[in-house]
Amino acid sequence: MTLFRIDSSIRRQGSVSREVADTLEQAWVQHHPVGKVVRRDLAAEPIPAAAWVAAATYGGGERTPEQEQGFALAATLADELLAADAIVIATPLYNFGINQLLKSYIDLLIIDPRLAPGTQPLSGRPVTIVMARGGGYGEGTPREGWDHATPYLHRIFADVLGADVTVVAAELTLAAIVPAMAELQPLAEVSRTQAHELAAATGQAHAALVAAAA
Ligand SMILES: Cc1cc2nc3c(=O)[nH]c(=O)nc-3n(C[C@H](O)[C@H](O)[C@H](O)COP(=O)(O)O)c2cc1C
Repeated sequence: MTLFRIDSSIRRQGSVSREVADTLEQAWVQHHPVGKVVRRDLAAEPIPAAAWVAAATYGGGERTPEQEQGFALAATLADELLAADAIVIATPLYNFGINQLLKSYIDLLIIDPRLAPGTQPLSGRPVTIVMARGGGYGEGTPREGWDHATPYLHRIFADVLGADVTVVAAELTLAAIVPAMAELQPLAEVSRTQAHELAAATGQAHAALVAAAA
């Protein structure tokens, strides 16, 4: 029984998305004693854009060595994802959109025919998106709707790949370091605490779900 964890924050120290994903992972391990965790850290090992360019421009016929490598890496990513019983994707919001490390991963992943749109290969499988946002994007705030990463990830993992998606978000993380946001620090603490609580509950629930299905 495998929890597959993807990290994409460029920070190793002080990363809120990594910390919240740690909480989910710990709950999973605690409640699923025979469960193991497989990790892919996209910041430590970025997916090369050249692999995607080569594979995505393949038009049939004999493949170049670069195209072979691109398809081989896509197959490795697909194998890893499809072998998972539960998945957690930890990511920051960068420039109001998806982190490029994660986008490169998704673009190459979907090159593999098993992940092509229409196949719904993760049907019913639990996927948690752990999102860390520096600002606030809640209903009625000036930047409501400016987080384009969370809806995009939901579109890919729920609508395209068929997974059962849970979103765990911590926001206002920049309040801790940006003086102009200092008064938002209490709200940031609440958001972070709630994210850890939801992550723990989600890790536990997904462990129970996977154990029951085994
Ligand atoms: C390059 C970069 C771009 C960012 N862009 C945004 C942004 O558009 N909106 C936002 O709310 N926060 C933004 N942030 C702040 C991050 O979302 C925030 O620090 C978050 O906690 C990062 O995730 P992490 O804690 O897991 O590293 C940005 C941070 C970096 C480094």
